[in-house]
Amino acid sequence: MPIRRLPAGLDGPDPLADALRDAQYIASEGLATAAFLALTLQKPLLLEGSPGVGKTEAAKAIASILGRELVRLQCYEGIDSAAAMYEWNFPRQMLAIRQAGDDHIHLYGDEFLIARPVLLALQNPRERVLLIDEIDRADHEFEAFLLEFLSDFTLSIPERGTMRAPEPPVVVLTSNRTRELHEALRRRCVYHWIDYPDPVLEAQIVMMRASIVAEDTARKVVAAVGQLREEPLAKPPGVAETVEWAEAATLLHGQGVAWPRAFARAIGVALKDQDDLAYMAPRIDQMLEKVTA
Ligand SMILES: Nc1ncnc2c1ncn2[C@@H]1O[C@H](COP(=O)(O)OP(=O)(O)O)[C@@H](O)[C@H]1O
Ligand SMILES: [Mg+2]
Repeated sequence: MPIRRLPAGLDGPDPLADALRDAQYIASEGLATAAFLALTLQKPLLLEGSPGVGKTEAAKAIASILGRELVRLQCYEGIDSAAAMYEWNFPRQMLAIRQAGDDHIHLYGDEFLIARPVLLALQNPRERVLLIDEIDRADHEFEAFLLEFLSDFTLSIPERGTMRAPEPPVVVLTSNRTRELHEALRRRCVYHWIDYPDPVLEAQIVMMRASIVAEDTARKVVAAVGQLREEPLAKPPGVAETVEWAEAATLLHGQGVAWPRAFARAIGVALKDQDDLAYMAPRIDQMLEKVTA
């Protein structure tokens, strides 16, 4: 199996986790291990988990510690190869034909090729990290298409032949798991399920990401968010919401609102769904009393 040599300082799950932390990302041991293995074994890293658990941010942090540019392909329903791989610049080709008159022109030269994220990563794998974000939003056909690319890191352009990456690019895929991904795709990847961070890690994330929050407030907000995630909500708060809730409540407290009232009044940054807010309204005070006691 071909092995990728990682830069000094990233050569193991622990050093990798330290580097990620320096890049403002707190990785669990499981995630740091999966990332280390995927990078070293030159396989794509597949991160699955609920919205807001830090999947996209993990890819950004990995690109950052490798000193590479992140090329992001945001998937959506109906996404096709023109958006993901490449496109011919049709208006420019037309213009060139008109200007050429009787001269011969090569219509499939580089100047007419618009590279999209997959081709960009293939053209320059040493300097880029390819993020295929929220692949569960794309349809099965597109997933099969990607699988082909991920199998041998080649791309066939009918007018140009097969393009091959000089080395396997670093690829991170994410899924919110709105549907199951193909077995074959999973098999290609190193897989890691990202759960909500445990309370100690999440409090560290709040302290790292929020500007003005006291440690005690961070702990309480993490406990409150943990409770909210146990409720039958349509949109349970992600990590970003935890950070914002801590900041917003701290701001209100600075305006003279007492604890834990400040949390309750700032609830709109943690829950962003009317039904969820209505459901929690009669319960929030009691819940906060409990977790902030
Ligand atoms: N482990 C983490 N370390 C630092 N910040 C995190 C972490 N997980 C989540 N965050 C914060 O939460 C936000 C949302 O995470 P994001 O990666 O967008 O979630 P997802 O892609 O899983 O929906 C990030 O912008 C970041 O501020
Ligand atoms: Mg995301």
